Amino acid sequence: LQFREMLMLSPPKTDIVFLKVHKSASSTVMNILFRFGEMHNLTFAFPTGGGNQLFYPHHFLAKFVQGFSPRSPQQFNILCHHMRFLQPEVQKVVSSSAVYFSILRNPVQLMESSFVYYKGASAFSRVHSLEEFLSQPHHYYNPTKTDSHYARNLMTFDFGFNPNGEVSAERVQLMIKAIEASFDLVLITEYFDESMVLLKEMLCWDLDSVVFFPLNSRDSSTKSPLPDTIVEKIKDWNRLDWEIYTHFNRTFWERIDKDIGRERMRREVKALRERQAELARVCLQGMGSVAPKDIKDSSLQPLQHGSAKILGYNLKQGLNKEMEHMCRRLVTPELQYSRALYEKQFPQKPPPTHPPTPSQHGNAMRQRLAGTQN
Ligand SMILES: *[C@@H]1O[C@H](CO)[C@@H](O)[C@H](O)[C@H]1NC(C)=O
Ligand SMILES: *[C@@H]1O[C@H](CO)[C@@H](O)[C@H](O)[C@H]1NC(C)=O
Repeated sequence: LQFREMLMLSPPKTDIVFLKVHKSASSTVMNILFRFGEMHNLTFAFPTGGGNQLFYPHHFLAKFVQGFSPRSPQQFNILCHHMRFLQPEVQKVVSSSAVYFSILRNPVQLMESSFVYYKGASAFSRVHSLEEFLSQPHHYYNPTKTDSHYARNLMTFDFGFNPNGEVSAERVQLMIKAIEASFDLVLITEYFDESMVLLKEMLCWDLDSVVFFPLNSRDSSTKSPLPDTIVEKIKDWNRLDWEIYTHFNRTFWERIDKDIGRERMRREVKALRERQAELARVCLQGMGSVAPKDIKDSSLQPLQHGSAKILGYNLKQGLNKEMEHMCRRLVTPELQYSRALYEKQFPQKPPPTHPPTPSQHGNAMRQRLAGTQN
């Protein structure tokens, strides 16, 4: 048998850890994991009380997971809610054979997006523009503030490292080696379709499992092209993120050459886009995303945050029950979908109106206020 045929005969992988890096199209990946998990009756490692994040920005701890008990460790199939990665703790809640993956975005676009989305964060609240912030970042940025990670090396932070560490070749190498030791695959937001093809190959999933409509994406009216001087300043300011990103962008393409080849990749991407267009015709009113004020069904309304305008979708009217269910899942925003899956997994346990323990009160409140924070 060819290697490829063997892959196709392998059963789909169902134990998965996804590190949901902020502002990197990770809500779209999460929707893919939610759909697959729902369809295959998999369990999720939900934050206690059904929250949206695993006590981010705290480093992950197994006890943040609903139903985890140190005396009778229970394993969950999928861990994908926002967390700050800490592998020894993650290993307590998933199978030892789980597949680990994440996604990185070009730090230049990531910072621009983070600035708009987290405009209220302490580092950004006193400036009017990203340019103003970058003109003297040390004046506005205080590394001891609990929300400072949104303003510098956010990906480095989410992977569990110190975003203010010195930038030396040794340190960068150590970080990259640590990520490579923990993660089986690192995807790239700029090549999202290629990323989904790689993902389906690695997980032995079929094409339909990774077809997607972009979720939690921002209206372009709040986007503007960045001048070169700003681009260079962003790279300098986020040097650790930049080094990580360029390394994994390189190995991403090496992986494609080794496992799939560019020619087959082109065919797979074409098939993915055709299927996506077909589902858009079947499922959506109009062909694409719409502004929040134009979303008719409030259960499909994405959370709005900062000064970004987060787009959503309208479903076509008159779909049969089965199609309506399938289409609805594709466009259900993360918070609503997570809540629905939580209620399915813990039917006796409606999310408490009060935080579970007094000691977690501050965190739980902060989590709820912080919302989704893709
Ligand atoms: C998932 O659970 C439902 C309800 O218990 C069942 O009907 C369905 O066959 C299950 N699906 C899979 C893939 O196990
Ligand atoms: C990422 O890799 C692609 C393909 O090799 C390359 O064209 C692109 O310039 C790279 N991006 C960055 C920011 O290095």
